[in-house]
Amino acid sequence: MKYRLNEKIVEYVAEGKANAGDDTILLHKAIDLSKGMPWSSDGFTIAPLLENKLFPTFLSETKSLLISLWKKAGVTLSSDFNPSHYHTIIKNQEQHLAAVEQTKLISTEDFPISIRLIEQRISTICGTELEAKNPWDGASVFHFRVVRPNAGDNNPLHRDVWLEDYTNCINLYIPIAGSNENSSLAIIPSSHLWPENSVVRTDGGAIINGIRFNVPAVMEVNRDFQVVRPNPKENEVLIFSPYLIHGGAANLNTDITRISIELRLWKKGQR
Ligand SMILES: [Fe+2]
Repeated sequence: MKYRLNEKIVEYVAEGKANAGDDTILLHKAIDLSKGMPWSSDGFTIAPLLENKLFPTFLSETKSLLISLWKKAGVTLSSDFNPSHYHTIIKNQEQHLAAVEQTKLISTEDFPISIRLIEQRISTICGTELEAKNPWDGASVFHFRVVRPNAGDNNPLHRDVWLEDYTNCINLYIPIAGSNENSSLAIIPSSHLWPENSVVRTDGGAIINGIRFNVPAVMEVNRDFQVVRPNPKENEVLIFSPYLIHGGAANLNTDITRISIELRLWKKGQR
């Protein structure tokens, strides 16, 4: 797969069997939480996240949480460590993977601010009552995404709903450190409305440069497309449909690690 990002060509090759789908539009079989919103045809929007007075606490609590999670992976850091320098203290891939293991699937009880505040904010934006709880398995979790510069840590282009447990939700990308025009999440606008046969993708989780990803990888796009980085700023959130093709966000900075929070919400009471 080859595409243009920040005026540079980004390319990856995924191993394994790949296929185009049929003419199904998966979004049309789903609860579309962007429905009726001014951004429903783009599939994403950027909005302010918290009241300004709450943001410094949110950020410092987030950094403390990260440092405590990295400590569990054997990476001990001082409390004033700048998370965007993460790549400078990680010795090898093994240590990075141990750290990633600790910074995923975190209970929302440990979210750096009351999760209710986020649920209320996103419910207002989407015009319906939402909760950060997956009706598929009852899990209420969030993840940190840690993408070192030029290290291939980013997952490939994909739809979340190619994994069966992410249907009907809405996704959040909250920038924490080092998230900028060269590193923030990339998306293909309006691709949530594409039929499955618009792309060729791997059947299962992709393997790229020997690294296994949970998500399948887009290998080819059979129509005009553009990969863009909406680039939410500090105390903003990127809200996007899990049906949108996203990922592939190589960190093109030379010396900054990008860290973001990934969180999903579903319609409250959905079964
Ligand atoms: Fe994703």
